[in-house]
Amino acid sequence: MDAEGMGDVDWNELQRNLEATIPVYDKINRFATFRQVDRWRKMVASRLPADGEILEIGCGPGSFAEILEGRNLTCLDPIQAMLEAAEPRVNAKRRERGDPMAKFVEGTAEKLPFPDNSFDAACTLFSFRDWFDKRAGLSEALRVLRPGGKLVIVDPAKINAVHGWLGHGYMKYWVGGYARWICGVEDHPWKWLTKTYVHFGTTRDYVEMLNEVGFDEVKAKVIFPGMATIWEGLAPSDPQ
Ligand SMILES: C[S@@+](CC[C@H](N)C(=O)[O-])C[C@H]1O[C@@H](n2cnc3c(N)ncnc32)[C@H](O)[C@@H]1O
Repeated sequence: MDAEGMGDVDWNELQRNLEATIPVYDKINRFATFRQVDRWRKMVASRLPADGEILEIGCGPGSFAEILEGRNLTCLDPIQAMLEAAEPRVNAKRRERGDPMAKFVEGTAEKLPFPDNSFDAACTLFSFRDWFDKRAGLSEALRVLRPGGKLVIVDPAKINAVHGWLGHGYMKYWVGGYARWICGVEDHPWKWLTKTYVHFGTTRDYVEMLNEVGFDEVKAKVIFPGMATIWEGLAPSDPQ
């Protein structure tokens, strides 16, 4: 694994471990982030356009998708079990609110199964770190966005080596210790959080990558209390 992606073997093993997180996903994430994860998800929702077609890449069990009100929503994930967990949860909330039903599509960021210029915005929360080819995934996000469309990403990047070392300790001991207790097994799936974090790049690496892939007005901000970064970029309004 490296800042650009990861090998097939690692990604397949990661997928098996991600599937195993489904029953305890929200419980462990809330504890691990001192409930900040809910605030980060609201922050992403507030940065997306108020209407139009929105794509969530790596929707997991629907933890973000269920809070996104209004808009036409498409949720993509490569794991069928994630989509099966997300669909009833997200669409029950959308029915209560009178929002249009969300669509659930199996696929990967690296090969999005949508035509060019399909979405007004795309977002990806705690998934980018897991993409096996991050540059290919960002190029695909750009391809499916309409001119001027926005991409928003949230994930725990490192600011520098010291921050990375502290983050590694936090994930291994704080999150890992709680996950071991909740899951009741030594070999719990949250070990993969630490593995993917170690090989994930810095906030700046992905600002550069977003620019290189062709996004405009790329911004990044480390969000309180320093456990995650939010990146934003726009598809060029006048593509060359
Ligand atoms: C930790 S969950 C995130 C769930 C949700 N976005 C949230 O806010 O909590 C990460 C999801 O990303 C998906 N994922 C991993 N690699 C991916 C890829 N290459 N393309 C698209 N999704 C991917 C995983 O299957 C998993 O369901």
